[in-house]
Amino acid sequence: MSLTIDLLACTRCRTCVEICPAGIIAMAGPEEAPAWVAGALRLCIHCGHCVAVCPESALSLPFMAAADLPTVRPDLAVSADQVVQLVRSRRSIRVYRRKPVDQALLARMIDLARHAPTAKNLQPVRWLVVRERETVAHLAGLVIAWMQGLVDAADSRFFPLPLLQGLVAEWEAGRDRICRSAPHLIVAYGAKAFPPAMSGSLIALTTLELAAPAFGLGACWAGYFDLAANQHPPLADALALPDGHQSYGALMIGHPKFGYPRMPLRNPADVTWR
Ligand SMILES: Cc1cc2nc3c(=O)[nH]c(=O)nc-3n(C[C@H](O)[C@H](O)[C@H](O)COP(=O)(O)O)c2cc1C
Repeated sequence: MSLTIDLLACTRCRTCVEICPAGIIAMAGPEEAPAWVAGALRLCIHCGHCVAVCPESALSLPFMAAADLPTVRPDLAVSADQVVQLVRSRRSIRVYRRKPVDQALLARMIDLARHAPTAKNLQPVRWLVVRERETVAHLAGLVIAWMQGLVDAADSRFFPLPLLQGLVAEWEAGRDRICRSAPHLIVAYGAKAFPPAMSGSLIALTTLELAAPAFGLGACWAGYFDLAANQHPPLADALALPDGHQSYGALMIGHPKFGYPRMPLRNPADVTWR
């Protein structure tokens, strides 16, 4: 297995040599075509940069052909103002319309999030989607049972007891402060105690949350749920993740009931310049 180079199209510009993060593409001389160095297949992280960057579409990997890569469309480039508004107008959505989200749209969101960066391009994130509102509510109830147990044991390791008592009281009054009566829950999980799975999950969920409004959706991190998923065996059992895996984060998701015409203020960045 090796790189496939279109020898007529390749201009020997060396861009692929310079761009490769693993440093495994070399040219034997200025007129020679780029090629993998010895042992490259083992070192390649499958990032596809060499294929994506080639101005002549002259390079393909055994597992990624240039012809299969979508091209970047200049007409879809977003302006700085659009990015600023996208980032600043993102909100944690906690009030949802009753209408469920089409499964195809949820699948599309996850399909987008899988393009977020992962350490060494390991792509270690796996997904669990809770599709039914009733199941989300059942899982939220298990979180509440965990919290009630902490209150009973006066265990304030995770949260102050008054906060837990408040969340339980709200639940008992019919208000779900855990999953906010969301219609769906998206859990990102991966191998236990595997840092790339943790960072990959958090970045993928962040990407998904940021993208959601463009698809008419709103999301909110389910932090209480995620903590309980890794602390409360009955909740872990209900999720039934594969052995050796853990939740690294979860989002409630649905159609937002309200829009926000303004963007709230935040603290200035605390930056040290050296
Ligand atoms: C890791 C993490 C966990 C969170 N967990 C919850 C949660 O369990 N419930 C909730 O209502 N909001 C949760 N949030 C949302 C934050 O409260 C929210 O991001 C913050 O108040 C700022 O509001 P904004 O996201 O609209 O800018 C969480 C956010 C993060 C980043």
